[in-house]
Amino acid sequence: MKDRIVTGMRSTGKLHFGHYLGVIQNLVKLQHEYECFFFVADWHALTTKYDKTETLRQDIKDVVIDWLASGIDPNIATIYVQSLVPEIAELNVYLSMVTPQNWVERDPCLKDMAKILRTKEGANSQISYGLMGYPVLMSADIMMFNAAAVPVGIDQVAHIEITRDIARRFNNIYKTDFFNEPKALLNNCSLICGLDGNKMGKSFQNDIKISDTEEVTAKKIMTAITDRSRMRKDDPGHPNECEVAFKYWEIFGTQEQVQTVRCECEKGLRGCADCKRELGRIINEKFAPIREKRRYYEAHPEEVDRIIREGSQKARVEARKILEEVRNIIGMY
Ligand code: TRP
Ligand code: SF4
Repeated sequence: MKDRIVTGMRSTGKLHFGHYLGVIQNLVKLQHEYECFFFVADWHALTTKYDKTETLRQDIKDVVIDWLASGIDPNIATIYVQSLVPEIAELNVYLSMVTPQNWVERDPCLKDMAKILRTKEGANSQISYGLMGYPVLMSADIMMFNAAAVPVGIDQVAHIEITRDIARRFNNIYKTDFFNEPKALLNNCSLICGLDGNKMGKSFQNDIKISDTEEVTAKKIMTAITDRSRMRKDDPGHPNECEVAFKYWEIFGTQEQVQTVRCECEKGLRGCADCKRELGRIINEKFAPIREKRRYYEAHPEEVDRIIREGSQKARVEARKILEEVRNIIGMY
């Protein structure tokens, strides 16, 4: 039997190239090697956006559409929405009982989120009881399917550590070996920076979305930072100091293309505008089939809805089995 993996993404709307290269591409590969449970973490989105829910439904759909367009296959992986599997909430209650308060207070990811919220909203009241429970809820997501591993980015590793601690503690308290201690499955994908050279993020307005049109993509690429020391287009350029454009070439171009760009740039035979125009074309070519599929699902929202509901039903069947065992182990009525 294949090992089981679980991973989730918060529903924060349409996904960008950073998500695609850093996470989704990896999931597309992993779906053939593991039994996969991939979900949209809408409760986790509520931990910080409980008062901004107007777009929540569409945001959830948009994440799923990006997944489907990118090649995650609902016939292979189970795709679901966290809140459509309410068993997770019950498991969350049990796990919250066995989790020492100082474990969540120590969580470095949570500390970062709290810091950002404080500077943004200027009020401690923005940090809700639910947000404090973020790492426990995440443990419930993972333990609900007794996953062996969790594909995540490096920023989530601390959360997986807490999950392992909670699983071990549960096993100790109830004298069982029921729960696995899930491992973080780190991907070695290339990290893509934003158009301005900083971390790519939607709130920094330096991202390119999977859902962007070819025109928008081409326009955005033209704003990518190049070699800042270069004044005229026939000046010799320095690909290694070309902060964004050349890095994108290395991600999206073939080896030969990258070699050609490097050579022509260093000899002053290639202007930055032309270079980025060509880069835009290459990127658009790569994403053309994904975008075409995306347009299909956008035009068939009822099909997306069906995939979400069927996946969630499938996930619930598994979740109920585990929950029944857990209730038994604890000694519930
Ligand atoms: N915290 C994750 C993020 O922000 C999302 C997430 C929620 C998750 N539950 C999970 C990831 C369970 C992996 C497993 O990206
Ligand atoms: Fe960068 Fe291309 Fe300009 Fe060279 S020509 S500095 S690689 S954008």
